[in-house]
Amino acid sequence: MKIAIAGTGYVGLSNAVLLAQNNEVIAVDILQEKVDLINSKKSPIVDKEISDYLASKKLNLTATTDGKEAYKNADFIIISTPTNYDPEKNFFDTSSIEKVLELIQASDSQATIVIKSTVPVGYTERISKEFKLKNLLFSPEFLREGHALYDNLYPSRIVVSYPKFNSELKTKAEQFASLLKQGAIKKEIPVLISNSTEAEAIKLFANTYLALRVAYFNELDTYAESKGLNTKQIIEGIGYDPRIGNFYNNPSFGYGGYCLPKDSKQLLANFSNVPQNLIRAIVDSNKTRKEYIAGQIISKKPNTVGIYRLTMKANSDNFRQSAIQDIMKMLRGEGLNVIIYEPTLKKNEFEKFTVISDLEEFKEKSDVILANRMEECLKDIQEKIYTRDIFTRD
Ligand SMILES: NC(=O)c1ccc[n+]([C@@H]2O[C@H](COP(=O)([O-])OP(=O)(O)OC[C@H]3O[C@@H](n4cnc5c(N)ncnc54)[C@H](O)[C@@H]3O)[C@@H](O)[C@H]2O)c1
Repeated sequence: MKIAIAGTGYVGLSNAVLLAQNNEVIAVDILQEKVDLINSKKSPIVDKEISDYLASKKLNLTATTDGKEAYKNADFIIISTPTNYDPEKNFFDTSSIEKVLELIQASDSQATIVIKSTVPVGYTERISKEFKLKNLLFSPEFLREGHALYDNLYPSRIVVSYPKFNSELKTKAEQFASLLKQGAIKKEIPVLISNSTEAEAIKLFANTYLALRVAYFNELDTYAESKGLNTKQIIEGIGYDPRIGNFYNNPSFGYGGYCLPKDSKQLLANFSNVPQNLIRAIVDSNKTRKEYIAGQIISKKPNTVGIYRLTMKANSDNFRQSAIQDIMKMLRGEGLNVIIYEPTLKKNEFEKFTVISDLEEFKEKSDVILANRMEECLKDIQEKIYTRDIFTRD
C-alpha cells in the first residue's frame, strides 16, 4: 500500500513508523527541518521507540514538504495536523485539516482519507458533505505523548469509522484497521468499526474521563491539604477498591498536555443545549485547582518563586499546556518575582519570565520552589519545595 501522512507530530510520526514496516509511507510536513530530520533517520520528537525504530528497523519511509505530489498516488492519506482550541470561537480550529483536504482535491487523488486528528463531534459528516467527499474516514488516536509509537505497537483498541450516509466505506474502514493491526506487536487488539460521529464522541468522552480522574484526585488532595489530612493514606485506602484501582491517581498542579484541556473544552462546547453538570465541572475544577496552588504559594509571602521544570512529567521535554504555566502567570499577577529552571530551554527568557540555566543558582535565588514532579536533585533543599507529587510517579 502507498500511504501519505500529513503532519509529523506525535500522531503522524508514530503512525508513519508503524505503517512503514509493511507499506510505502511518505510523511508530509510544512516544516523543512522536521522533514530533514526524518529523512536522516532522526526523530524530531523525544520518543524512545520512534528513535530506535528510525535508527535500526527496515522502514519504507521518506518525508517531504511537497504534499500535492505525495497525496497524488497514495492509496490512503492520513491527516494528523493540529486542532488547537480556539478560545474566541470556543471550538477546535480545524483549518489545518481543511488545508490538507484542499490540497488532496487539487492533486486529483483517489485515495481513501483518514482523519486521525481529534475533531469536534459531527465534524467528519459535516466536512464530507462540504467537500463532497465519498472517501473520508475518522480514526481516533489514543496514544500518550512520550509513548507514541509504543501505544501504537500495543494499542488498547483500534477504532475506525465512516459517516453513516457513506456505509459503502465500511470495507475501507476494515482495511485501514487491518493495516494498523498488521504493524502492531500486540496480537489480541479489540477493533471497533463505527459511525464517525460516535467515534468522535468516543475520543472526546475518553479524554474527558481521564481529565475527570485527574481533577477528582486533585480535589481530594486540595481537601486533604486544607484540612491537614494525609492525602497518601486516603488515596491508598480508596484505591484498594478494584472498581477504583491504584493507578492514575497521583495529585498534580492540574491536568495539562496538548489534549486533555482542549478536548474537555471541546466536549463541553458540543454539549451546548444538552443538559449537563459534570462536563462543565471538570473544566472548572482544573482552573480552581491552579488557583488553589497559586494561593498556597502566595500565602507563604515569598519574594522570588522558583519553577522547577515546565514539564508535567519527570524525564520529559514536553510542556505544552502544562498547568504550571497558568500558575506562574497567576503568581506574576500578584506581583511576585517568578524564575524558571527548565534545562530543555536554550534561552534565558520564556514568556517574559527569567530562565536560570544553573540549578544551584536557581535554588539559591528561590524562596519557594514549585515542583509538579519531585526529583532527586531537589532533595537537598526539601524545605523550599512545594509539590503535591505524593507518590513520586506520573
Ligand atoms: N499528542 C497527542 O498525545 C495526541 C493524542 C491523540 C490525538 N491527538 C490529536 O492529533 C492531532 C495532532 O496532534 P500532534 O500532537 O501529533 O500534533 P503536533 O503539533 O505535534 O504535530 C502536528 C504537525 O502537523 C504539521 N502541520 C501543520 N499543518 C500542516 C499541513 N497543512 N500539512 C502538513 N503538516 C502540517 C505541523 O508542522 C506539525 O509538525 C491533534 O488533533 C491532536 O489533538 C494528539
